[in-house]
Amino acid sequence: MSILAIDAGTTGVTAVVVTSEGRIAAKGYQEFAQHFPRPGWVEHAPEEIWQSTLEATRDALAQVDASELKGIGITNQRETILLWDRETLGSPRRAIVWQDRRTADICTRLRDAGHEERVTELTGLRLDPYFSGTKLAWLAEHEPRTWALVESGRYAIGTVDSYLVARMTRGLEHLTDVSNACRTLLFDLNTGDWSDELCSLFGVPRDALPELVPNWGDLATSDPTSFLDLALPIAGIAGDQQAALFGQTCFDVGDSKCTYGTGSFILTNTGTTLERSDAGLLSTAAWRSPDGELTYALEGAIFVTGAAVQWLRDGLQIVGSAAETAAIAATVADTEGVVFVPALTGLGAPHWDPHARGLIIGITRGTTRAHLVRATLEAIAFEVRDVLDTMPARASLRVDGGASANDLLCQVQADQIGVPVERPRLVETTALGAAFLAGLGTGVWDSTDDLRDTWQLDRRFEPSLDRSSADAAHTRWIDAVERSKGWAQD
Ligand code: G3P
Repeated sequence: MSILAIDAGTTGVTAVVVTSEGRIAAKGYQEFAQHFPRPGWVEHAPEEIWQSTLEATRDALAQVDASELKGIGITNQRETILLWDRETLGSPRRAIVWQDRRTADICTRLRDAGHEERVTELTGLRLDPYFSGTKLAWLAEHEPRTWALVESGRYAIGTVDSYLVARMTRGLEHLTDVSNACRTLLFDLNTGDWSDELCSLFGVPRDALPELVPNWGDLATSDPTSFLDLALPIAGIAGDQQAALFGQTCFDVGDSKCTYGTGSFILTNTGTTLERSDAGLLSTAAWRSPDGELTYALEGAIFVTGAAVQWLRDGLQIVGSAAETAAIAATVADTEGVVFVPALTGLGAPHWDPHARGLIIGITRGTTRAHLVRATLEAIAFEVRDVLDTMPARASLRVDGGASANDLLCQVQADQIGVPVERPRLVETTALGAAFLAGLGTGVWDSTDDLRDTWQLDRRFEPSLDRSSADAAHTRWIDAVERSKGWAQD
């Protein structure tokens, strides 16, 4: 018995086949294009996300016996918003991605009009371009012809999970789950339902939004003519960070994880209590069980971590691959005073400044690419520390995601936070979480206790730097962060 899990992330789609022992039996991956039509704007072509899903899945299925599959789990980049024609499934425009900053002025306008407190009370979020609601308000304002077809019912609105379900079911289903819905600014975290008040504030017709379903169970069925001859239950759905929390088996109150992806996201399970932070963390839905129980989490969302490494590779072209950054950084003992604040799409938690922009400071004639590469890895660790500093102290931190394979990063992370960093054997935790959800939904696993048994430690990184040195480096970082704020004029 196995599960097909699809992780439609920000830069590409991963498809894995997970066995009932929690092992990854096959994997496919397809990257897709990032569109930057203007500074601060980020878009994806929906059709390309779908074609990448087909390609990655085809690859994975070629490595296994597909008749063993019991169901499909879907996880996805959150907040990114898409429109599609309910009949043809074609999209009238590109998706506006979570990293896109074009709605900073709409956020300011709403804040100036006094809406932020109420929005936070209802959603657990803040008025920041990160979330989907203001992206939809922007579409209504700037693309009225398209928006008229949203209002007439022809175009559906959804996050990436919804879009993939629509494509997999040939347009039969238009649904989403709470972990995605709660990132739109249209979902009331207190009631666990779409909010008419928020829909009216952002000008979004509620009928254009997907139906809310639990995170696991018999949610939909894939149409074989649309989805690679597979007629399988779509039995698990979750936004990628909540899926990673599930994949790390963080089922108890206080359990936390940090996923290093395009950005980095630290989530702590708060159980059935909707906890709030006054230190820049978001309150968010983690998952809802088929019997209706809603589990919440507190989240520190950092926008640019792996994306900074990607920028070293694709923008500056000073590294050939993310994998080689650990070796390059290790050729120098420290950055010799170079600090890189990768606020390339503004700053998220805990600083929250959409106008911040990237900054590299402390460059001298002796600076080499190794110093800059090391400063990039250190920046990721500093950013994560900034978030953890706002949370209750912990005994250790579970990490996952692509960059957790980087030993130097894990070591610097442990040095900065002063507690051990634990890396599991499987770092594709996001996809694993989607597989776990779908496995619960199809009876491959009976309970979360079965899932806990599959978690295995790969390596534990103990802090090795004295606290005063770690804190001194962090103080310099905070100084640089302050200098990066408020830079963009848009
Ligand atoms: O909130 C954005 C997040 O869901 C994106 O995750 O893994 O694609 O960087 P990732």
